[in-house]
Amino acid sequence: MKLIVAIIRPEKLDDVQRALAERDVYLMTVTDVRGCGRQRGYTEVYRGQEMQVRLLPKLKLEIGVNEAFVDATVEAIVHAARTGETGNVGDGKIFVLSLEDAIRIRTGESGSVAIGP
Ligand SMILES: Nc1ncnc2c1ncn2[C@@H]1O[C@H](COP(=O)(O)OP(=O)(O)OP(=O)(O)O)[C@@H](O)[C@H]1O
Ligand SMILES: [Mg+2]
Repeated sequence: MKLIVAIIRPEKLDDVQRALAERDVYLMTVTDVRGCGRQRGYTEVYRGQEMQVRLLPKLKLEIGVNEAFVDATVEAIVHAARTGETGNVGDGKIFVLSLEDAIRIRTGESGSVAIGP
């Protein structure tokens, strides 16, 4: 099992959710976050001084998936969250983490059945 953590542009959530649903991936957690990538957000010059690094609003998706769904999930997010023909800086990032276990509280079932569709 893997925990896929994706940071995306907020306006891309609908496209990403649709792309995931087409691949039978529905279970997810979405959180409002702020972050900066290697462009360090953006800087503004104010009275001749460069202002501090900005944290830009992003969304964080956390998706627990079984191994069989990992590639399809990553590909769906990459394609749906990318902007323009070739992508733009700030389009986001995906982290793939090993997932030790998952427990569905209602039933107590654990492991891959707890995160399956
Ligand atoms: N190494 C990282 N660790 C934690 N969060 C990150 C990391 N890289 C990116 N992020 C998160 O992802 C968001 C989007 O990153 P972004 O797409 O700007 O990545 P990038 O590495 O700067 O690539 P690009 O050059 O395409 O912009 C950031 O605002 C931040 O929230
Ligand atoms: Mg960036």
